Amino acid sequence: MTDKGSNRTITMKDDESGKTASFPIMNGTAGVPVMDIRSLYKEMGVFTYDPGYTATGSCKSEVTFIDGDEGILLYRGYPIEQLAEKSDYMEVCYLLMFGELPTKAQYDKFVYDISHHNMVHDQINNFFRGFRRDAHPMAVMCGVVGGLAAFYHDSLDINDPRHRMVAQYRLVAKMPTIAAMAYKYTIGQPFVYPRNHMGYAENFLHMCFSTPCEEYKVDPVISKALDTIFTLHADHEQNASASTVRLAGSTGANPYACISAGIAALWGPSHGGANEQVLNMLEEIGTKDKVASMVQKAKDPDDPFRLFGFGHRVYKNFDPRATVISKAAHDVLNTLGIHDPLLEVAVELERIALEDEYFIKRRLYPNVDFYSGFILKAMGFPVSMFTALFAIGRTVGWVSQWNELIGDPEQKINRPRQLYTGSAARDYVNIGQR
Ligand code: CMC
Repeated sequence: MTDKGSNRTITMKDDESGKTASFPIMNGTAGVPVMDIRSLYKEMGVFTYDPGYTATGSCKSEVTFIDGDEGILLYRGYPIEQLAEKSDYMEVCYLLMFGELPTKAQYDKFVYDISHHNMVHDQINNFFRGFRRDAHPMAVMCGVVGGLAAFYHDSLDINDPRHRMVAQYRLVAKMPTIAAMAYKYTIGQPFVYPRNHMGYAENFLHMCFSTPCEEYKVDPVISKALDTIFTLHADHEQNASASTVRLAGSTGANPYACISAGIAALWGPSHGGANEQVLNMLEEIGTKDKVASMVQKAKDPDDPFRLFGFGHRVYKNFDPRATVISKAAHDVLNTLGIHDPLLEVAVELERIALEDEYFIKRRLYPNVDFYSGFILKAMGFPVSMFTALFAIGRTVGWVSQWNELIGDPEQKINRPRQLYTGSAARDYVNIGQR
């Protein structure tokens, strides 16, 4: 992205000292302009206060663009709706990693290379045995993906673009294998090795649902739906997990460890963990007649409960991913002839919430997590695997953001400031005199 170089500035005046300073406004290729405050402390002797970074741009990025008011999501300029309909996840990965859509030859080579990096070092199998069988798959993934750093550390120079690319390929390729192993471990079945001739989503389904006793025949409707889910989750600009990856990466840390930090951030119920919580919430509601009381609970200011799958920091109109996924959920369930009574509860919840003044005023709409769980459940995944599937799709976004960060000469170690509200300096008192 190039700064269009406007001459606009914002001038600030300190009421107390009378000092003034001007700060340049930077324009990207799209979106809200940003004020460059890097010299703020030097000029005015103050920092900014912005918990949750609601108004802070942390970097320049060419990867993904969101217009939250218009409900627009672009990967490298291409609208998510077009990619979900016409492209596939491997092509989207290439697009995010390299910035352009591949030619047929580039696509074929990319698919070949990714599929030939999907096996994990045999030693990794041993990691799993250290976990309890009832461990949450996301806990296992944090540990095992971080553990990859132990296999690829000394040989990796993050300042070498080629080394960085190899790390990106490995992470995108191995994430489904690790997630499938986490699943197999928790259900006490042997690990299933990846198959190179299968598509990315198809291979993941095969690793999850095949056993040595019985081959799992992957239904193309299901593998296509999963491929679309991966595409919809592939990147989302500077969200909490991508920012975590960038923050860890800004110190020069090993990329496998940085992605493990991203997985940890994704796991929280306010972020990727919401897809698991949506289904738990709908199960708790149970029937359509109980929806209204749950909506009431979500509106109660004294109750911390929130409707999972609703609301977004950036989207204040609709989440374009939710539109695609809601249609896909209905289509998949219809095609497979599955009647999920919870889908009726979800539709009713969406209807009531969208007509409610509380949600209208706060511009709270269903997000990507609201309907994705229905498809994953229909595929046979337990609720505890939902966020792990999100992590598979998002890995390409994390590695693309990480690669951009390391290659950006303007990037520095990420190190926010604070407003200190603790005790003023005081003298130590010996224990007997307190
Ligand atoms: N249910 C009820 N009230 C809500 C909800 C909700 N899901 N989301 C926000 N609000 C209210 C919130 O209480 C606040 O009300 P008030 O102004 O009276 O205090 C107002 O709306 C603004 O909320 P906020 O907390 O300032 O918004 P935020 O930008 O900090 O939080 C969010 C965004 C996604 C964390 C939040 O909407 C939420 O917790 N949603 C439920 C969890 C969820 O579905 N997360 C998945 C996000 S999409 C997938 C992803 O990218 O990870």
